[in-house]
Amino acid sequence: MNQRETLKINNTGYLEIGGVDVKQLKAEYGTPLYVIDQTYVENMCKIFSDTLKHEYGEGLIAYASKALSCKEIYRIINSMGIGADAVSGGELYTAQKAGFPMQKIIFHGNNKTNEELEMATDYGVGLIVIDSFSEADKLNDIAEKKSIVQSVLVRVNPGIEAHTHHYIQTAKTDSKFGFSISDGSAEEIIEHIRCKNHLKLSGLHCHIGSQIFENKSFILAVEKMTDFYKKLKDEKGLELDILNLGGGFGIWYTDSDRKLSYTQYADYVKDIATNLKKCCENKNIKKPYLILEPGRSIVGEAGVTLYTAGSIKEIKGIKNYVSVDGGMFDNPRFALYQAKYTVEAAERMKDKKTKLYTIAGKCCESGDIIAEDCLLPELKEGEILAVFSTGAYNYSMASNYNRNKIPPVVIVKDGKSRYAVKPQTYDDLLRNDV
Ligand SMILES: Cc1ncc(COP(=O)(O)O)c(C=O)c1O
Repeated sequence: MNQRETLKINNTGYLEIGGVDVKQLKAEYGTPLYVIDQTYVENMCKIFSDTLKHEYGEGLIAYASKALSCKEIYRIINSMGIGADAVSGGELYTAQKAGFPMQKIIFHGNNKTNEELEMATDYGVGLIVIDSFSEADKLNDIAEKKSIVQSVLVRVNPGIEAHTHHYIQTAKTDSKFGFSISDGSAEEIIEHIRCKNHLKLSGLHCHIGSQIFENKSFILAVEKMTDFYKKLKDEKGLELDILNLGGGFGIWYTDSDRKLSYTQYADYVKDIATNLKKCCENKNIKKPYLILEPGRSIVGEAGVTLYTAGSIKEIKGIKNYVSVDGGMFDNPRFALYQAKYTVEAAERMKDKKTKLYTIAGKCCESGDIIAEDCLLPELKEGEILAVFSTGAYNYSMASNYNRNKIPPVVIVKDGKSRYAVKPQTYDDLLRNDV
């Protein structure tokens, strides 16, 4: 595990998160349970936004709320003074109901519906990121009817392949997202938007992928984007105010990932800021307002999922399975892209690890696995298992598959815990059944 002050082993050998041990958490809330360490989330927001301010000046950290969206998270993020991005009507609605300042929201999506565009303009969302020609037309019509001018960014595709899993590479030339710089379509959409009276083109956005540790990838994105800003200035006399470089900083899941300190995360922002300032100077372009959209790195390592071990099946000479009371309905990431996790016996953190287990979920799918080949003490039914780094893309990807209830989300801080999302009931599952 990646220990810190708010994620540690206490004297009795229990895992403790935010000053609350797992036995207390299980007794109060049951399992499966998503636990979020608020202090970690706050520290990450602070380190990113302080570094941006100090190293660059004008800019905004916008938490990518697709990583974990619920009212309490928007409140925490807002209390840290940062912005957020959203990718659906549901995320916009949640943020608005949580009292989030909508001017600090950036709205993404490769196929936003009319309803979502109406909603975003009604709410006064600060920036809408255009991802198709027809979207620009639709949004201009909506803005005209409301007699407003909507600020927009364009999602461009700088053609960088970040070193990450194929499915989460988003800025290759072949991508459902964005307009490619290399084939000229980025310039076409820019011209298209410039002709619209109710859209103000404020800048460009790119997102080169996720779970990226190489800072070279971000620096390359800065170079490519500023080359393009220079081209737009030189050839069209267009000087853009904003540059949004997306998210993507990597986090620790297993010991094959790097364990980054707060200072090392700050270094990513520092490197981006330093290179962007240098590129602007060298290329003689206006220094843009810089937006970064980290999601996973803000909430990922803040999260731990607690399960109770159920049936244990030892297939001689092949594998030991332990099944838990959760599965792909609360964490589909193994099933989606073989994501890897670290698992511990959370009440016996100091015990000798002697046996390899595959942690299986309870869904009717043989691909319903949480983690493979985890070295653990000999397990007993009924004990608590903890899966680390589940704060991002777990609750937000949860489903009611097999009509399982989505587990509650509990926030821990300074030895206290509270619900962020209450447990579902079986009646919740029937709510919309006719
Ligand atoms: C447009 C955009 N911004 C930000 C993010 C956040 O990325 P991460 O959670 O890796 O920081 C994503 C993730 O897919 C994204 O698509």
